[in-house]
Amino acid sequence: MSAIDYSAKIPNNVDLANDRTLQRALEHWQPRFLEWWKELGPNDFATADVYLRTAIGVDAQGWAHYGTVKMPDYRWGIFLADPIADRTIGFGDSFGQPVWQQVPGEFRSQFRRLIVTQGDTEPASVEQQHLLGHTCPSLYDLRNLFQINVEEGRHLWAMVYILHAHFGRDGREEAEELLARHSGDADKPRILGTFNEPIVDWLSFFCFCYFTDRDGKFQLKSLAESSFDPLARTCRFMLTEEAHHMFVGETGLGRVVKRTLEVMKETGSEDPQEIRRKGAVDLPLLQRYLNFWFSSSLDLFGSEISSNAATTFANGIKGRPDETTQYQDHVCAASTFEIEVPDGKGGVMKDTSAMRNAMNEVLRLSYVKDCEIGLKRWNMQIKRAGYALELKLPSNRFRRAIGAWANVPTDLEGKPISREEYEQRMPGWLPSASDKDYVKSLMQRVIEPGKMAAWIAPPDRGINNLSLDYEYVLFH
Ligand SMILES: [Fe+2]
Ligand SMILES: [Fe+2]
Repeated sequence: MSAIDYSAKIPNNVDLANDRTLQRALEHWQPRFLEWWKELGPNDFATADVYLRTAIGVDAQGWAHYGTVKMPDYRWGIFLADPIADRTIGFGDSFGQPVWQQVPGEFRSQFRRLIVTQGDTEPASVEQQHLLGHTCPSLYDLRNLFQINVEEGRHLWAMVYILHAHFGRDGREEAEELLARHSGDADKPRILGTFNEPIVDWLSFFCFCYFTDRDGKFQLKSLAESSFDPLARTCRFMLTEEAHHMFVGETGLGRVVKRTLEVMKETGSEDPQEIRRKGAVDLPLLQRYLNFWFSSSLDLFGSEISSNAATTFANGIKGRPDETTQYQDHVCAASTFEIEVPDGKGGVMKDTSAMRNAMNEVLRLSYVKDCEIGLKRWNMQIKRAGYALELKLPSNRFRRAIGAWANVPTDLEGKPISREEYEQRMPGWLPSASDKDYVKSLMQRVIEPGKMAAWIAPPDRGINNLSLDYEYVLFH
């Protein structure tokens, strides 16, 4: 036994106290993680006391343990959701056989690649949000940002645990690399495009939480179906935390809409300039932010037709979200899937693919459906306030950089158009330089307990039944 009390320092349910190999790997990695956190985690808030939840167990009491903590002292833990007795493989060629507790040698590199790609997104988002604390619209929001940051840190730990525990020396090297790549770095960027986009303002942050964390939800849901049981259990537990991140995105954007509607009422005007004079976010501006983050996040699902997706499905590595409850055919050896692709002549044509090859698209479509829920809610707010305007998701074909529609100019409805028209209309579709300047001008830090910046309405309630004017972050 080591002298370090592992369960106090690193809360876990993986018997870390008795696993010498894992201890050694983590002892080596943890100081590097802390260095990374100091350098690229929330900038300047190391001494602040933050009201945060920490996972100290996987049951109802343990997974959200609230208390005040300085972020560098956060107890990043390692948790797997409880095992499901006699769990069998839920999809693919080995359907119905017992799940694996170790990675089968022949699938090792496929698993490693998927785990590293997922793991890479977790610290990437912390890096993207590095400076946001300085311009928080309230203490409540600041606390939520930090909650997300520490949990993404824990999600990195979750993936590093799998690498350390199951991939030997390769896994240890990959774990180091997860701290060596950096968001937006010219030489060593993060693996996926969206995770190299800067998040410089809170409107982008809320969009990121709404759209990009939701991609995370769908990736985790499909990995939670995996035949490699430790990975499935890790991802299942991460999903419980991920839900809060999307809550922050959805309620954040909903509060922006609410505030804008108040200003529209007050001024009796829908004119964006009028709304901006009152320091709120006009809805067309919000729409352009939605267009940007939604289209960027769509690419995270990969190509519509992918032999890689077919192989990972066939091999039982990555399934579909809610595989057991949402689908009848779990093998998909003979079924097909129809997609729309550019016909090369400026139009659209139908194409039929083997279902297994279309798994990325299946995943993307369920993601899009989930994205629509928030829009319906915000549109209801707008309608109730008596306005005809509607926020919309652009077409899945709009501004794609990956897959069948990559670099095919289309309008927001997905209709192919000429390159000239595309470029000419783009300033109305994506945030322009002046939009971004305006949003930047709104980003003034508000840290009086209970106070909100003028561009966002207060939330309906505080965190963990505390009042809204609770001092969620205490500065020293
Ligand atoms: Fe995460
Ligand atoms: Fe997240």
